[in-house]
Amino acid sequence: MNNITAGIIGGLGHIGLIQAACLAELGYVTIAYDKDQNKFKKIHEKILPFQEPGLEELITKNMAKKRLSFTTNPESLSQAELIYICVNTSPLASGETNLSQVFSALNEIMELSPKKTTVAIKSTVPVGTAAILTKILAENNLAEDIKIVSNPEFLSEGSGVTDFWHPTRVVVGSDSRKAAEFVASIYSPPQVPVIITSSENAELIKYASNAFLATKISFINEIARFCERAGADIRVVSKGIGLDPRIGTDFLEAGAGFSGPCLEKDLKSLIFQAEMYHEKPILLKSVLDINEQQRKNIVKKLENSLGRLERKKIAVWGMAFKPETDDVRSSHSLPILKHLLSMGALVTVHDPWVRSPEQTGIAENELPEISWSASPYGAAENKDAILILTAWSDYRKLDFSKIKNIMSNPLIVDGRNMFDPEKMQSLGIKYLGVGI
Ligand code: UDX
Repeated sequence: MNNITAGIIGGLGHIGLIQAACLAELGYVTIAYDKDQNKFKKIHEKILPFQEPGLEELITKNMAKKRLSFTTNPESLSQAELIYICVNTSPLASGETNLSQVFSALNEIMELSPKKTTVAIKSTVPVGTAAILTKILAENNLAEDIKIVSNPEFLSEGSGVTDFWHPTRVVVGSDSRKAAEFVASIYSPPQVPVIITSSENAELIKYASNAFLATKISFINEIARFCERAGADIRVVSKGIGLDPRIGTDFLEAGAGFSGPCLEKDLKSLIFQAEMYHEKPILLKSVLDINEQQRKNIVKKLENSLGRLERKKIAVWGMAFKPETDDVRSSHSLPILKHLLSMGALVTVHDPWVRSPEQTGIAENELPEISWSASPYGAAENKDAILILTAWSDYRKLDFSKIKNIMSNPLIVDGRNMFDPEKMQSLGIKYLGVGI
């Protein structure tokens, strides 16, 4: 089986690069094609387009073994029997998913004049997209030569490589059972359930999974607000409900809400798709509203303690949307920072992996007048408050007696519930979490 040549379109993106490196590690000759000349140049200088634990080692090893190569020329994929589409599907202003990169990937594949190629869509695409691509192939008399399979990806950033090796399930949807089985056979570890189904089911499984995860988070955040009023502690409540195996302990951490490039985008897209069918996705919309409110509430906690935030000095710990990634795309930290700036606060930012605005791709005018500090202590010095937005484990190792002494007002508002309030209080720090 490993004499198959695999191609990746979008091979230097988050999904594409992990997919490419892991397929090569499995022994497949893998060609990762990406239009981005800059990322292409950098990968040959051993500079990865993003950080992901364990990825660099895999790339270095498999490039040296000549199983993994990168290209900016789509013609290099002409020998691939299996091509994964891993391109970006970000939303348009209307909420509709922008499929232009998916269609252009299909055009590139059609121009290769391939014989017997299977195309697996890894990008998250609206329900019905695989059927549209199949129709385009039929209109071009290529439906016999090229088979489309929806093969959604469930990996999380920060654990992408581990998630590739240990999937919870493999989902393949296609109107060609043979093509679906072929894609499933590429990597389906024993004991892992494989769902072979229609492309519509496969596409919706991806959206519904992310929407459900977001729902769990908004649910626990709503209960957290109640806890604050009622004198309960959400961490204990969360544990108490999560131990029911029908509920499960994961994704029940209250905080500043969910963010990142997937959950919010996919939730919005699912709402848009449901409305296209004249459905009213009441629950999904509430999930989004609660999340928005969570971001506002965390700033409100600062105001409640400090009064007007104008000229108040705030250290923000955490720019990445979650730990173990340098990804700030759609990070909750951005709207929260903008909110603080709009209120006249003076903000200093620290993040162990995101160290400058250039690194984030954020335009300077988007976040004017913020300072960046190389250390959490430096950020905290002479500040009226620390606002924690990303649960970096490094923060747990800090000396909080020292932090108390260098702050002008020892207040920590923790949007990730990282610390024990009583311990903080014993150090003389006023500590406000979410739902505690
Ligand atoms: C998500 C899905 O988990 C993954 O299966 C899919 O393939 C891509 O989208 P990812 O975006 O990498 O993965 O992040 P995830 O770990 O799901 O976290 C998303 C956000 O939810 C983060 O901001 C995180 O801090 C927040 N979160 C997570 C909570 O607020 N509480 C929780 O209990 C869990």
